[in-house]
Amino acid sequence: MYNFEFQNPVKIIFGKGEISKTGKNIPVGAKILLTYGGGSIFKNGVYDQVKASVEGFEVIEFGGIEPNPHYETLMKAVEIVKKENITFLLSVGGGSVLDGTKFIAAAARYAKGDPWRILSMRAPVLDAVPIGAVLTLPATGSEMNASSVITRAEYQEKLAFMSPLVMPFFSILDPEVIFSLPEKQVSNGIVDSFVHVIEQYLTFPVNSPIQDRFAEGILKTLTEEGPKVLANRLDYDSAANLMWSSTMALNGLIGSGVPQDWATHMIGHELTAFHGIDHARTLAIVLPGIMHIMREQKQAKIIQLGERVWGITDGSANERINRTIKMTAGFFESVGIPTRLSAYQVGAETIDRICDRFTKRGYKIGEKANIGPGEIRLILEDRL
Ligand code: NZQ
Ligand code: ZN
Repeated sequence: MYNFEFQNPVKIIFGKGEISKTGKNIPVGAKILLTYGGGSIFKNGVYDQVKASVEGFEVIEFGGIEPNPHYETLMKAVEIVKKENITFLLSVGGGSVLDGTKFIAAAARYAKGDPWRILSMRAPVLDAVPIGAVLTLPATGSEMNASSVITRAEYQEKLAFMSPLVMPFFSILDPEVIFSLPEKQVSNGIVDSFVHVIEQYLTFPVNSPIQDRFAEGILKTLTEEGPKVLANRLDYDSAANLMWSSTMALNGLIGSGVPQDWATHMIGHELTAFHGIDHARTLAIVLPGIMHIMREQKQAKIIQLGERVWGITDGSANERINRTIKMTAGFFESVGIPTRLSAYQVGAETIDRICDRFTKRGYKIGEKANIGPGEIRLILEDRL
């Protein structure tokens, strides 16, 4: 196992009815900007629960944060934070609202020009407005991590930044929010969480059986509980297990002390930037291609995944790898997510554009930093 440091200060408040504790966890006298998305929180009662809990606080609201949150939208909130002297940001929504709120938090305190630099130049975040989150969609893990992914529409660019300063002070996870999720968003959440685990697991062995078992436990739980939620959205116990799996998939624990990949995400972000395909769907397209093209480098872990998650215990190494790829893609398809580019009307010209971008950026990705434009072409051509 590699050396590592692990610190996760996010307070998790989990369970039905717990949204009522929102106000109690916000500093007394705080001036709050409540951020939200396209309005789902008004239909499912989450807004009413939050508002009842923050009674007595001064609250300004900022809605309209879109999926794959846009820099252009968020900068309007940054102006409000500055003008109104906001001291606390309360994110009420899914990963996009929370990621957007993390950017607002950092951008409002950024003193060295255009805050886009935090993303484009990895400019350090030195200060941020404190954040609390009421999560309405289990998928990204943003509720318990330091990451945020922001899109700049005018450049068709989708970039990430990380800072411990934007980790929420608390995140409220009430599984009942899942009851109102459309099927598509449940599927997206299952697949995004699954691939978060894979990015920290499907690399090469470093003798870290505890992280491996954590990872396999989350993967198994997602494959068992995810379909139950799809079949019955009001199944509270399955919703709770899905929600907690999703948080645990990307809160730093399973990735501590082990190599990490993230190539599926890096390539997937380009598919969203160019075509607006939902984040999780891009991952379902790219991952089987990565497993195929990087099969030698990942051989030991692909075989371990096949054996421990999909029950594949016989055959030659190549046969086992092929079956593991098939089972993984089959699982994505089984929860309603197509895994081929053609299903999204994306053709070879997009592959050229993505490879061009990686050529210009000049860096290589993957756990061994050996996936460059040539490999990315092969990975995506495998998915046509
Ligand atoms: O906007 P509203 O009206 O709230 O509707 C949303 C949105 O249309 C709806 N929704 C959310 N909760 C609901 C609900 N509808 C009914 N009932 C509820 N309880 O779902 C739609 C999608 O929401 P969004 O927040 O975009 O989904 P998700 O949580 O999957 O977030 C995706 C974003 O997170 C980024 C992705 O790139 C993408 O931009 N990621 C963030 C990560 C992180 N911070 O660590 C890691 C991930 O890999 C990912 O990249
Ligand atoms: Zn993701």
